[in-house]
Amino acid sequence: METRIGADVDAACRLLREGSLVAIPTETVYGLAGNALSMDAVAAIYSVKNRPRFNPLILHFASWEQVGGYVLNIPETAIRLAKQFSPGPITFLLPKNDKVSDLLTAGSNLVAVRIPGHPLALELLRELDFPLAAPSANPFGYISPTTAAHVFDNLAGKIPYILDGGPCEVGIESAIVGFNERDEPMLYREGGIGRQQMASLLGTSIHKAPEMKKGESASSPGRLESHYAPSVPLVVGNVLELLETYSGKRVGVISFKNRYDAVPEALQMVLSEQGNIQEAASRLFEAMRLLDRIQPDILLAEVFPEEGLGSAINDRLSRAAATKG
Ligand code: TXA
Ligand code: MG
Repeated sequence: METRIGADVDAACRLLREGSLVAIPTETVYGLAGNALSMDAVAAIYSVKNRPRFNPLILHFASWEQVGGYVLNIPETAIRLAKQFSPGPITFLLPKNDKVSDLLTAGSNLVAVRIPGHPLALELLRELDFPLAAPSANPFGYISPTTAAHVFDNLAGKIPYILDGGPCEVGIESAIVGFNERDEPMLYREGGIGRQQMASLLGTSIHKAPEMKKGESASSPGRLESHYAPSVPLVVGNVLELLETYSGKRVGVISFKNRYDAVPEALQMVLSEQGNIQEAASRLFEAMRLLDRIQPDILLAEVFPEEGLGSAINDRLSRAAATKG
């Protein structure tokens, strides 16, 4: 199959209505989208991504009105968060109604819903009379794509069209929030809206949902220990010390704003010269992909400051570093 890249929303709509998959831009990462009401399209998403079926998908909508047609209710706390942050890089786990198939939720009675903030994605969703199921458009376990070219590198020949909306502004996946029976928010995945930002809006602290371990039957494998991983092994810590530990090896470095004299220019990715954490987040996955292409012996990454998107960056780095097996 030939894979075309373009910014033609109508062409994307046509393909999606026919049941084909289209990669779409969002403000977080590119998604591999299909008609969420077509079981053939949903099955194709799992197979193109090579994704285990126990890992549920996020449904993307143009508006909260549309979301209302697929959930039993929307808790008060979700509404407050949505008013502030949605459309945007936040996903809500809500009780599904029977229009949502078990294949989408991997058997859970919760469905993940999100209204993306990217103008092309919204334009596309408004044209369609069905929601789009869309995981990140990377093969399962690999780094999420933040440009159309990343998607092409991974999925060329497997999908007909990549809707090109430019580089993703946020560059890290959405935060995933669920709610317990007392309507308290639980963070299932750190992401594009910082935990602190949500906490200060709500005036409460936000607890982390319990972590998944490998082998557990996973209700949210984005939380699997090992994920988002380059093929080169990655170690997170004090880079100066690690450079000593790995002296003699060809190392690549991912840093916030520091440069390391001992490392050749082409092998260092400084994510933000200005020390801007948002800029750093938007460049993280591109940096991981560039270094992975050069194939040094090992990648070293700094621990980022925990402010703002820093904790989501640290989360992705530590999952990328978790040993595979
Ligand atoms: O920013 C994003 O969220 C991107 C863009 C494309 O929207 N999408 C994305 O999808 O990151 P994906 O499939 O790569 O990650 C979705 C995560 C998975 O870890 C999945 O397990 C979790 O959401 N998830 C989906 N439905 C769930 C559910 N019903 N209960 C618990 N976790 C769920
Ligand atoms: Mg993903």
